[in-house]
Amino acid sequence: MGHLDRRDFLAGIAATPLVAAAAQSLLAGPALAQVPSYNTRSLLPAGQVPLVGIGTARNYQDPQTEEDYAPLRATIARFAELGGKVIDTAPSYGRAEEVLGRLIAELGVRDQLYLATKIGVNTPEEGRAQLEQAFRRLQTDFIDLIAVHNLRDVDNQLAMLREAQQGGRIGAVGITTSFEGQYEDFEAVMRREALDCIQVDYAMDNRSAAERILPLAQEKGMAVMVNLPFGRGRLFSATRDMPLPDWAVEIGAQTWAQVFLKYIISHPSQPIAIPGTDKVEYVDDNLGASIGPLPDAALRLRMERFIDEL
Ligand SMILES: NC(=O)c1ccc[n+]([C@@H]2O[C@H](COP(=O)([O-])OP(=O)(O)OC[C@H]3O[C@@H](n4cnc5c(N)ncnc54)[C@H](OP(=O)(O)O)[C@@H]3O)[C@@H](O)[C@H]2O)c1
Repeated sequence: MGHLDRRDFLAGIAATPLVAAAAQSLLAGPALAQVPSYNTRSLLPAGQVPLVGIGTARNYQDPQTEEDYAPLRATIARFAELGGKVIDTAPSYGRAEEVLGRLIAELGVRDQLYLATKIGVNTPEEGRAQLEQAFRRLQTDFIDLIAVHNLRDVDNQLAMLREAQQGGRIGAVGITTSFEGQYEDFEAVMRREALDCIQVDYAMDNRSAAERILPLAQEKGMAVMVNLPFGRGRLFSATRDMPLPDWAVEIGAQTWAQVFLKYIISHPSQPIAIPGTDKVEYVDDNLGASIGPLPDAALRLRMERFIDEL
């Protein structure tokens, strides 16, 4: 069952609408009773997780004062309270790993979360050192997923990560990119390695990953995480001051963020979107996209046409 305990696992099951009612009856305690029914997917080693997580690339980089920390602490606390699981970070995001580790320790929510980080160095020795640094910074003896960042020294680092996985210190291993120029190499690694999870950029207006990478992940049974789901905010700029289209009602989307995220998580490869989330109100908004109906293939096409015509 991996790091998440039975209670969390049941909460994950409870998030699958079809079995929500049955699983809820197995859950005791007021906190879990408030966890909404999410659309989920299975993700090693945790079991089911909601299809929206959190990315920490920017505003977790270097908080200094309590004023800087407070909104980040509130964000992580709310995410855990609502039954959110996946948080993505990396050693290259300034102090983000350390900041996240500190907040999680302060809140005492490690066991409720799925922690994903990355390795981005050039030699196996540097990789081992960065791995140990991740355990120290995240203040945990188990990391759910570690991915090789942007394919850097990919073969050596995957071998190093597999050792750690076999030793039981890591739950899953993967690779990431956010550059179309790397897609060909990325695909080649997907074809030759048995990966638990891949992470790639994909958004309503940036759909190249859906041509080959997402279908290949599906074919190979690899879980998918999606970075840059808002194109670093580009989609919000494109739709600024615009009312939601009529079809947003059909998928229960109440905000543009939910429109953009529901598009991503409705891809047949069932991606987990990890939007950069540093404000408590974004947690409710973004996790809300993982609740309720998702667009079918026909509506996904309409959504693409809509964004292409802006
Ligand atoms: N190669 C890789 O491995 C790789 C590369 C890039 C990113 N990533 C991962 O992917 C994550 C996401 O990327 P990203 O953070 O750069 O870009 P993003 O998720 O596309 O966009 C983040 C921006 O969206 C805004 N936002 C978030 N939720 C919102 C909401 N509900 N309503 C309105 N605005 C909202 C935030 O704006 P404000 O905070 O400015 O208000 C934030 O700056 C990263 O944090 C990182 O974990 C991985």
